[in-house]
Amino acid sequence: MKIFSGIQPSGVVHLGNYLGAMKNWANLQNSPAGENEAIFCVVDYHAITVDYPKDEMPQRIINAAKDILASGVDPNKSTLFLQSDIPEHTELAWLLNTITTMGELSRMTQYKDKTAKHEERAGLFDYPVLMAADIMIYKAEGVPVGEDQVQHVELTRDLVRRFNSKFGDTFPEPKPLLTEAKRVMSLSGSGKMSKSDSPSTYIAMTDEPDVIRKKISSAVTDDGQSDDISQSTINLINLYGEFAGQGEADKFMEQRKAKTIKYSEFKPALAEAIINELEPFQKRRAGVTDEEVKKIFTDGAAKLRPIAQETLKEVKEKMGLII
Ligand code: TYM
Repeated sequence: MKIFSGIQPSGVVHLGNYLGAMKNWANLQNSPAGENEAIFCVVDYHAITVDYPKDEMPQRIINAAKDILASGVDPNKSTLFLQSDIPEHTELAWLLNTITTMGELSRMTQYKDKTAKHEERAGLFDYPVLMAADIMIYKAEGVPVGEDQVQHVELTRDLVRRFNSKFGDTFPEPKPLLTEAKRVMSLSGSGKMSKSDSPSTYIAMTDEPDVIRKKISSAVTDDGQSDDISQSTINLINLYGEFAGQGEADKFMEQRKAKTIKYSEFKPALAEAIINELEPFQKRRAGVTDEEVKKIFTDGAAKLRPIAQETLKEVKEKMGLII
């Protein structure tokens, strides 16, 4: 299967990004030889749809690639590139804009969420169409993402069907590929873990052990005694399962059900399990240089550009734009 996914260079990568998407990227890439062909992208053109610090952007872009590599993506097995290095993405997005309705973009919940905090800009509104173009330009069939991106993949499927029926069979319908941890919750206990919230509500993949211990010790739980187990507690126990194994997590869940759980024991166990998993990630990340990333980007774009150009030519031909 052809796999495509991307991440915004927006400064930090947290446990939600890692468990919901990036860890899965590395797994998918390691499928039996030749079964999957994986392409991963740092989506800088998406990251500029809200205000951003332009002086920090070059380093953010490089750091996003380092995060992808530290998650286990191997540039010898997968292709990693920078979105703006292949202008055909934005050109295809324009062509897809002509078959996308205002109604369908208005229904995107991420647009509604983002405009609660940010200005209503055309680029932000049109963001899902660029995402569809990212996926379609490589004719990808599988899109490993967290739950918050599923609606955008569904829109992509609609655009694929519409394009194929208007202009002739061209694109496969891509499927979202989700993990068990498709929606990691915030440590505050409400909503998903998000980099736009306060740093105390998420664990960044680059957090030091002491920071992790502190954040977990102040993570919200219930009182351990009520009949209803709170969502915040379930989320923390699930997180523990991700790092220490389901069996270990089940033990704490049983204790919670029996109202014997001691959060003063559970929380340090969770913090240490996270620290253990992040240590190799942080080591790998520190071992990647800026120069290596630039070379990987250059090679990635050189490999993909001909494919993107080929798809764009086919699309223009089908749309009656080649004379
Ligand atoms: P972005 O940069 O917001 O997030 C990167 C990935 O992390 C997942 N994710 C989560 N998963 C589980 N729990 C959470 N709390 C959580 N928070 C984030 C996201 O679902 C995502 O998979 N629009 C995309 C980037 C993009 C893209 C694409 C993805 C652009 N073009 C084409 C796939 C295909 C985004 O903003 O992801």
